[in-house]
Amino acid sequence: MARFGTVAVIGAGFYGSTTAQRLAEYDLFETVVLTDIIEGRPEGLALDMNQARSMEGFETRVLGQTTGADGSGYEAIASSDIVVITAGLPRKPGMSRMDLIEVNARIVRQVADNVARHAPDAVVIVVSNPLDEMTALAQIATGFPYHRVMGQAGMLDTARFTSFVADELGVPVSSVRTLTLGSHGDTMVPVPSACTVDGAPLTDLLPADKIEEVVTRTRNGGAEVLALLKTGSAYYAPSAAVARMVRAVHEDSGAVLPVCAWVDGEYGISNVYLGVTAELGQGGVHRVVETPLTADELAQLRQAAEAVRAKQADVRGL
Ligand code: NAI
Ligand code: 2OP
Repeated sequence: MARFGTVAVIGAGFYGSTTAQRLAEYDLFETVVLTDIIEGRPEGLALDMNQARSMEGFETRVLGQTTGADGSGYEAIASSDIVVITAGLPRKPGMSRMDLIEVNARIVRQVADNVARHAPDAVVIVVSNPLDEMTALAQIATGFPYHRVMGQAGMLDTARFTSFVADELGVPVSSVRTLTLGSHGDTMVPVPSACTVDGAPLTDLLPADKIEEVVTRTRNGGAEVLALLKTGSAYYAPSAAVARMVRAVHEDSGAVLPVCAWVDGEYGISNVYLGVTAELGQGGVHRVVETPLTADELAQLRQAAEAVRAKQADVRGL
């Protein structure tokens, strides 16, 4: 595929820098723009990544740009078709994602205002936590149509679920299909009924108590990494997750992926950003794709919707 277009990654911390690296190594874009408020950090990382081109075999150029509180530097994202927002604090051990809501709301609002001003036609993908709420806030602050603003969580949570199932059964990850819906938090809804191993239902391969163990580990997947790292949260699997979403939009692939998208009637749920499967392509979310669920899974999804709806209403005032 010919190289074209620009993607911008806002926030050059662990998540943002690994995302920029993955996107550059895809070699699908003319330019990857990486920004941060820390003077020189994005420029330094960009220089470093560009020096890897001859060895890693990519021609995409990474452009680093420091931005100021007054919005200076945001001209660099002007021609971006896709903007990934990673700016924001990560959790510390013992913190919930929700503990970040006030501080990250201020950051995401400031970033979103500048994205709306400088890249008014972009598709925005949010990863900052708490994810479902920051995605809702980015839509409110940009004023972009719902289909052009989405969040990354389900890709990561599903990948963790897949990894745990593969390890439990001693099979390659490529044999395993799993799914998580709902929120990127306590009301995450892993969906065992949609999980298969080489086409066979997971429920035929693992006893119910083992599946429950894997489901619980998936719900706590972020906290498990955080507790080991002690400073900062996960970024290798998270950056792989968002890079796949960017790629689906960039290539207009129509891939159906688990993402945080605006739900308007699907599953009997309306007017909320929630983890669902959705078809992605040029312009963002083409449609939410409903997955058949058991009565219990559907009840959990509806419960998750109500939990995040209340919090998403709160972010309007932050
Ligand atoms: P980090 O602390 O390494 O990087 C955050 C970066 O944001 C810093 O470099 C900081 O200078 C920058 N920043 C702060 N305010 C900014 C502003 N106004 N404009 C531009 N940049 C700004 O944190 P990390 O690990 O990169 O995580 C970033 C966010 O992603 C956190 O909120 C974290 O909780 C979240 N996260 C979400 C996941 C998901 O699945 N949705 C998974 C992992 C992390
Ligand atoms: C994660 O799930 C912290 O949300 C981040 O790793």
